[in-house]
Amino acid sequence: MSGAVPLLATSGLTKIFGRLTALRGQSISLNAGEIVGVIGPNGSGKSTFFNLVTGFLRPNAGEVRLNGTPIQTLAPARIARLGIARTFQGTRLFAGLSVLENVRAAAQLRHPSSMLDAVLGTPRLRAVERAVNASAEELLGLVDLRRHAHRRAGDLPYGDQRRLELVRALATGPSLLMLDEPAAGMDASETRRLLELISEIRHRYKLGVIVVEHDMDLIMNLCDRIQVLAAGETVFEGSPAAVQAHPRVREVYLGHE
Ligand SMILES: Nc1ncnc2c1ncn2[C@@H]1O[C@H](COP(=O)(O)OP(=O)(O)OP(=O)(O)O)[C@@H](O)[C@H]1O
Ligand SMILES: [Mg+2]
Repeated sequence: MSGAVPLLATSGLTKIFGRLTALRGQSISLNAGEIVGVIGPNGSGKSTFFNLVTGFLRPNAGEVRLNGTPIQTLAPARIARLGIARTFQGTRLFAGLSVLENVRAAAQLRHPSSMLDAVLGTPRLRAVERAVNASAEELLGLVDLRRHAHRRAGDLPYGDQRRLELVRALATGPSLLMLDEPAAGMDASETRRLLELISEIRHRYKLGVIVVEHDMDLIMNLCDRIQVLAAGETVFEGSPAAVQAHPRVREVYLGHE
């Protein structure tokens, strides 16, 4: 057996809401540097999968392992500190805070300082603040938002808000980035820009990335592999070309489009 442990591996992951099985026996695995897409019609269990991996929901059965360690019983904040960052379907920025403050707030997670450091204004605190500011500036540069650093996040155009949300997730220093419909509401040129941004991020930070998206252009051009869900079940997994060629997938997915 090979000794390689995947970055993320789920097995038999199951979530039941009352009489509805939202996700049944799902298994997925990916390594650092890989981008995996998860697609499927509305209600097929994609966001439920995200919520199970990030600790927002507890599975009825199955496991989530990060670098081999089971994490499915941990709280969301703990999982975030272990290296999984996510964005939500629909934006969840701190609209009243500035662009910079949004990223700084996330970067604090990576550079914790104690209350005592804060009260005493210790050299350690000042070093932490410098590190937080430097990484926030670098990240804002990546999405071309440095010149808007002091604007209210809620005043940015929609596409910029989505990109800010993405670098805010990145600011926590994750090894796995999970994006739930990052292109929703974007036009074709914004979507293309997003595709380039995610590719750049994957290469620069050597992250594993999982993307849920209805935009097939983005999915097919971005992902190394794709898992297809329908009504909570995995119906297919393969390369973009294999997914596009698969008759059942065309039926399940294109039937819904
Ligand atoms: N907290 C919850 N309580 C009850 N039912 C839920 C809950 N969350 C999700 N569901 C149901 O589980 C099923 C899967 O939902 P989920 O949000 O995972 O779908 P999705 O694939 O992300 O869909 P979409 O493409 O519309 O975002 C749906 O039928 C949904 O109504
Ligand atoms: Mg969803």
